Amino acid sequence: MDAFTPQPRPCWIAGRPEQGEQALAVFHPFDGTEVASVAVPSADQVERAVAAAHDVAREFRRTPAHVRAKALAQVSEVLAGRAEEIAETITAENGKPLRWAEIEVQRAVNTFRFAAEEARRFSGGLQRLDTDANGENRMAVVRHVPRGPVLAVAPFNFPLNLVAHKVAPALAVGAPVVVKPASATPLSALLLGEILAETELPEGAFSILPVRGKDMEKLVTDERLPVISFTGSTKVGWSLMEAAPRKHVVMELGSNAAAIVCPDWTDLDFAAQRIATFGNYQAGQSCIAVQRVIVDRSHVEQFVPKLVEKVSALKTGDPHDPEVEVGPLIDEDNARRVEEWVLMATDAGAKVLTGGKRTGTTVEPTVLTDVPADAKVWREEVFGPVLVVSVADGVEDAFAQANDTRYGLQAGVFTRDVQVAFEAAAELEVGGVIIGDVPSYRADQMPYGGVKGSGTGREGVRSAMEDFTEERVTVLTNVAL
Ligand code: SIN
Repeated sequence: MDAFTPQPRPCWIAGRPEQGEQALAVFHPFDGTEVASVAVPSADQVERAVAAAHDVAREFRRTPAHVRAKALAQVSEVLAGRAEEIAETITAENGKPLRWAEIEVQRAVNTFRFAAEEARRFSGGLQRLDTDANGENRMAVVRHVPRGPVLAVAPFNFPLNLVAHKVAPALAVGAPVVVKPASATPLSALLLGEILAETELPEGAFSILPVRGKDMEKLVTDERLPVISFTGSTKVGWSLMEAAPRKHVVMELGSNAAAIVCPDWTDLDFAAQRIATFGNYQAGQSCIAVQRVIVDRSHVEQFVPKLVEKVSALKTGDPHDPEVEVGPLIDEDNARRVEEWVLMATDAGAKVLTGGKRTGTTVEPTVLTDVPADAKVWREEVFGPVLVVSVADGVEDAFAQANDTRYGLQAGVFTRDVQVAFEAAAELEVGGVIIGDVPSYRADQMPYGGVKGSGTGREGVRSAMEDFTEERVTVLTNVAL
């Protein structure tokens, strides 16, 4: 299909393309041009998608692992073969520079490949029960059984790979999946639908429904979708949890990730470059983009000018320009919000070392210092290209500052001291600690998720497969051990 046809892109109802009741326009975040429109399914189409997921659940969970693995491997290969076109689509709908869109496609290729591999490995285990007298000659077979169809609610910031992180593990365990992509960025998910439809997955194994956010409640409360996997804002995440208290809900929410430059770290150029890049990649619209930079007092004088120099050197503008490193925010409301938070901080005494200005949807990469601890740019998730520098007196103080937040997704700790590294792993209240690099490092096969207000449950292909299933025990009696 042409990447920019004027026809609404079809939604996917139980694996088949259908036009909807209405169309939703998708706009390029940089210049506001209409990129495409997509079919918004009617209530009847949504009902058919959910009913099909429910009806196929038993058959699908019993499909042989090699059938699921083959479909997942096929998706991975087709994504790789269509990488250029898909990266263009991501940039068109999301506004991230093409180089980052290309990385996202490559990551999705991996996510599906890892899922194909895990589908073959995911087996459960045996547990001997004769560790107690009443278990003599007994053994338990422990299997992972899908909890049921998954409602996957995806965000705009990785419109392909964060959909992949829900779809691939669900299909790998044999759970049907109903996807609700972000309203601003449904195109990559619909394109994925096209690729999934070429596989031999049973009808009903997937649907992709670009319903509007306000019409999502029915899906959230529908008992035929007992699992919700949500990535998005903290506010929406917790409201889903409240709306569906009996469901199994996996939530990957926001954060204000910290990078800590410890007293022993000597390569300040490297740390400054990594923090500059990963505070501003995707215009800061990643849950693990660096936001808070906690620098040991012994380094401040040397480190801060390096950071400012590297951030000022980042070119902003049209994401199709290969020189551009920082594109627009997803829309003007968000760009205005970020600008306002910076102004609120400066009104309260913060200093702008570089950046701070907005043009349309683009916000200049910004470095702030002397920010009061109650400022939104420090306490809340900015989700924009803003770095806030704070000074620490030693490692203990740095860790206390990093923990002084309601969030806890990942932290980056620039240290080569193994004791500090272990202390960080023990003390930092986060789901992941990255030693010697920024918090923004994510390998798609590793467990990924947060503590405190950053969510509950884990993604990462294997971890999500565990989350989408529950253990079922079969006890055998009178067996030789
Ligand atoms: C996120 O924004 O939580 C996802 C980050 C990533 O996958 O790199």
